[in-house]
Amino acid sequence: MNSKIQAILAKKGNTPVSEITAYDYPSARLADEAGVDIILVGDSLGMMMLGYPDTTHVKLSHMLHHTEAVARAAKNAVVVADMPIHTYETPEQALETARALMAVGADAVKLEGGAAKEAHIRAIVQAGIPVQGHIGLLPQKVKEEGGYRMHGKTVEEAAAIMRDMEAVVRAGAFSMVIECTRHSVAAEITKACPIVTIGIGAGKGTCDGEVAVFHDLVGGFPWFVPGFARPRADIAADISRAVKEYIADVQRPQ
Ligand code: KIV
Repeated sequence: MNSKIQAILAKKGNTPVSEITAYDYPSARLADEAGVDIILVGDSLGMMMLGYPDTTHVKLSHMLHHTEAVARAAKNAVVVADMPIHTYETPEQALETARALMAVGADAVKLEGGAAKEAHIRAIVQAGIPVQGHIGLLPQKVKEEGGYRMHGKTVEEAAAIMRDMEAVVRAGAFSMVIECTRHSVAAEITKACPIVTIGIGAGKGTCDGEVAVFHDLVGGFPWFVPGFARPRADIAADISRAVKEYIADVQRPQ
């Protein structure tokens, strides 16, 4: 395991891990220079960059294009590239996709699913590629599941997420995202989990770290803001103001 990944693992139980998405050179460079631990080239780029309604429209070609730009910017952060839907149906295909993402500069890959993807994760890890798992709400299954909702609300569902965590650990992943999962369940999973858990919509302080979507953090996508997001800037308003000022300036008589 390489030293960047070891440094992330060493934070378990000591220092919270910060992770943020980025899809292009400037946002990745700003995040890297700010000192974030992990930059995720998330397939949320389908909505944030490409205008799709959800992540199920994202293709490997999109991920390769954006991962390459992010990798050029990241000097210190670990670059994790998301494996898009339908690119890891079998362990063999998963490994092929992971290799393609590593070839354009990723340090690790992320894929969605726990027990159902144990063999797929293992195949990638055994080839020497670090994997971040993703359990709880799985955005690539949003159509099958009929929308975004909190997971782990019933005893059965909480137990299934715990089993997913165990499968991801057995397969050799170095960390896993726990998305939109009942806060007490995320905390319980983190306590039982030997690798780094990263929460999103799973409560403050329940996991070993947190991941935020770049545009949610900086107020860059005003048309949809998830309830759990805590924007710390309003760049959409700044951009609108700057463009309106520019238009007025262009139209002003000399
Ligand atoms: O694609 C993405 O941004 C993600 C995060 C929500 C974890 O997978």
